[in-house]
Amino acid sequence: MKLSCWIHFAVLASISVEAFLPTSLRISHGVHTATTVSRHPNFLPQRDPVRALSMTGTSEQVVPIEQVSAELQQVKEEFDAKMDQVKTVADAEAIRREYLGKKGPINKAMGYMRLLSNEDKPKLGAVVNEIKEALETRVTESMKQLEIGMIEEKMKAEYIDVTMPGISRYPDIGRRHPLSMTMEKAIDIFTSLGYDTVTSVEDSPEIETDYNCFEALNCPKDHPARDMQDTFYLTEDMEYLLRTHTSSVQIRQLKKRKPPLRIVAPGRVYRKDDIDATHSLMFHQVEILALEKRGELNLGHLKGTVEHFLKEMLGPDIQVRFRGSYFPFTEPSMEVDVFFRGKWMEVLGCGMVDPNVLEMAGIDPNEYSGFAAGFGVERFCMVIHGVKDLREFTKNDKRFLEQFPHFYDDGLSNFLSGKPQPEPKPDPRGEKVPSRIVRSLAELEALNKQETEKLTTASEKQEQAPSAEIDVSKFDIRVGIITKAWEHEEAEKLFCEEIDIGEPEGPRKIASGLRAHYSVDDLVGQRVLVLSNLKERKLVGFPSHGMVLCASAGDQVKFVEPPEGAKIGERVMVEGFDGEPATENQIIKKKMLDVVFPDLKTDSSGVATYKGVPLSTSAGACKAPLPDADVA
Ligand code: DAH
Repeated sequence: MKLSCWIHFAVLASISVEAFLPTSLRISHGVHTATTVSRHPNFLPQRDPVRALSMTGTSEQVVPIEQVSAELQQVKEEFDAKMDQVKTVADAEAIRREYLGKKGPINKAMGYMRLLSNEDKPKLGAVVNEIKEALETRVTESMKQLEIGMIEEKMKAEYIDVTMPGISRYPDIGRRHPLSMTMEKAIDIFTSLGYDTVTSVEDSPEIETDYNCFEALNCPKDHPARDMQDTFYLTEDMEYLLRTHTSSVQIRQLKKRKPPLRIVAPGRVYRKDDIDATHSLMFHQVEILALEKRGELNLGHLKGTVEHFLKEMLGPDIQVRFRGSYFPFTEPSMEVDVFFRGKWMEVLGCGMVDPNVLEMAGIDPNEYSGFAAGFGVERFCMVIHGVKDLREFTKNDKRFLEQFPHFYDDGLSNFLSGKPQPEPKPDPRGEKVPSRIVRSLAELEALNKQETEKLTTASEKQEQAPSAEIDVSKFDIRVGIITKAWEHEEAEKLFCEEIDIGEPEGPRKIASGLRAHYSVDDLVGQRVLVLSNLKERKLVGFPSHGMVLCASAGDQVKFVEPPEGAKIGERVMVEGFDGEPATENQIIKKKMLDVVFPDLKTDSSGVATYKGVPLSTSAGACKAPLPDADVA
């Protein structure tokens, strides 16, 4: 049996192995039979290296196994020569398949194994395996090196230096994020009341201790109020966590500095919540804390502060409602609701600081007392701008973010003030400087408009259909009366006026360029129409908030006047256009002025109209003593 197997092998590989055989297995040439050969004439394909090598022997010849080894060695040399030429991973892979694949010489040689006795198998196995391993090692190593080389080349080609400064002089100069703007607005309101802003990581870290976030705020470990805030703990012992509110900043400030103090602390907070349109794992809060000598600050001061803040934030027309509530760190505690755009909503928590909190922070509650409040920023931003889903804030979709008005960084104030811009220096990265460099705000706006038009496909235009709805109803036009007027000291065309439009905080300051048409003595007592939902802006240093509507034809300009019985502060309506007025920000954003003004005119009898429909009040239509004129 053994004998015939060896013969088989010798014939199949066209090699005999007599010399190599253990003495007991020596065979004579004559043992081989023609039948065996003819059964496997094509076992090795023509191009097989083993076969090519063994063509020197005849099928009858007995060849020592050293020769098999030598022939495989030649296979290896041929393989190595090919590998020396390899340039790509694909080349190496092809060679691997040729030599080590199913139909390759190594596998073929292995295939002969089944023809051998158990005793002889290892002998052939050892020879083949040694070569196989050598080939495998080389090809694997080579592929690894080639892959590394490829990655390195790609990295070199796609290198970006993220530390290079941005190129703000190009058209897309970026905007403040709506949440940042809302938070900054809130902070501004408190800083103007003398509060210090606390933002540093040291004073307001997002990773907090259990002690600062709960314990020191009068909320011990087993306190049921902890259930209100699902917490991300960071350590097994639950000593470190992501702060669930900015109230922890109160504790850090109390420990760091002694009262009296007033702080406003904005920042991110985290709660374990399911994400949806109104919930997020991370959101922003603003916290305030005010402490004075005991008796100086009472609940009245807290309510006054909160009400002032809310009116500055949401406009003077809101109503504010305080409800008794519970927070562990204040006593008494209140929640605050506002009535804004037709509905009540909860916006803020506050209260008088609990004496326990002061005591734990080492402050004598008999010496100092005060109040605290905290609120979420997303909520305000959403109601102010009509954002329905807070996930929009973190999507980073430019189309969403671009809707909010620009607030430029200080670094661009020159740009905004129209100062000439220096020629751009050649780019240090050797990049081509765009041929189009914007040098003024007007140019930027024109360019943005152009770009938007270019990008807006027909279907997008349809999606944006609301812009087609811009009409006079977006304007908040009020009946007003000029209560004070004087000439602007620095601008020769401007009057400065104070105009009562029925607002509780008193008359608005408005500047208008009417000195060529009226004398200052004509103004006080003049009843006018005021476009009141315009953002405040400085006109040659005078903060002007609103615009007086006038009719103009040729070089004539006249006030549009409300009828006699119209009440100061009432809204001027146009029948068929009775939507909700836009916010001050939207008026600018949508370039509403450009859309609406061309349709405002006086008719042949001087009645002010929008698309031919009179501007009217409870006492009738508004008129200007100037027929067929433009109104603006
Ligand atoms: N920390 C509270 C929260 O996140 C909000 C709050 C309520 C803050 C009352 C205060 C306060 O400072 O006095 O729900």
